[in-house]
Amino acid sequence: MTARTSRELQLGVFASGRGSNFSALLKAIAEDRLNAQVRLLVSNRSDAGALGTALEQGIPTKILSSADFSSGDRFVKTLLFELRKHGVDFIALAGYLKKVPMEVIREYRHRIVNIHPALLPSFGGKGLYGHVVHEAVLNHGCKITGVTVHIVDEQYDHGPIVAQRSVPVKEDDTADSLAERVLQMEHRLYAETLQLFAEGKVRVEGGRTVIDR
Ligand code: GRF
Repeated sequence: MTARTSRELQLGVFASGRGSNFSALLKAIAEDRLNAQVRLLVSNRSDAGALGTALEQGIPTKILSSADFSSGDRFVKTLLFELRKHGVDFIALAGYLKKVPMEVIREYRHRIVNIHPALLPSFGGKGLYGHVVHEAVLNHGCKITGVTVHIVDEQYDHGPIVAQRSVPVKEDDTADSLAERVLQMEHRLYAETLQLFAEGKVRVEGGRTVIDR
C-alpha cells in the first residue's frame, strides 16, 4: 500500500444521483487502494442514491440546494461552512449535476475533481451528462470513447485533464451497453486518480497537469 508515502485526503463527495462512483470510492478506501476518508457527502437532491449509501456507512451528509436559499450568497456560505466544519480538504464530484460555485472553486483551487463518461474535450459541457453523452458518441460513429477525470474550473467539464482511459465502442453497442462498460472503467479510474493526489503526484502548470510518476 502506498499510504506510507501519501497523505490521507479528507474528501467531500458531491453527488446528485445513483452514486455508483461514490460506492466505488468507498470500496477503494476500504480495500486500501485509496488513502482517503470521506468526511462529508453533499447532495442537492434528497432522493439521491448516494445519500442512502452514506447514511448506511455512517458518513455525514448534507442536502444543500441553492433553490432552498433566499440568495446564492447564503447558499455558498452554508456550503463552505459545512465543508470547513467537516474538515474537507479535497472535493470529488461524482455525478453532481450542479455547477460548483465560484467561491468554492477559489477556496479549493486545483483540489476539486470531476469524472466524465467520455474523452473530453469531446462530448462535454452543459447538458451533456448521462445517456445523452453515450447517444452522442454513438450518433457520431465514434470507435472509441472513454473516461476523463479533470480538475474543476468555472466552466462545465473544462478544467485541466488529470487522467483518461479509452473504452472501445462496439458495432452493436446501445447507449445502455456503452454506459455500462464506461461506468466499470470510471469506477477503477476515479480511485486511481484520487490516489495520485493523495501521493502528491499531481501538479498544475500553465493550465495543464503534470503527473510525477
Ligand atoms: C457517471 O457517469 C459520471 O461520469 C457522471 O455522472 C455519472 C454518475 O453516475 N459525471 P453515478 O451516480 O456515480 O452512478
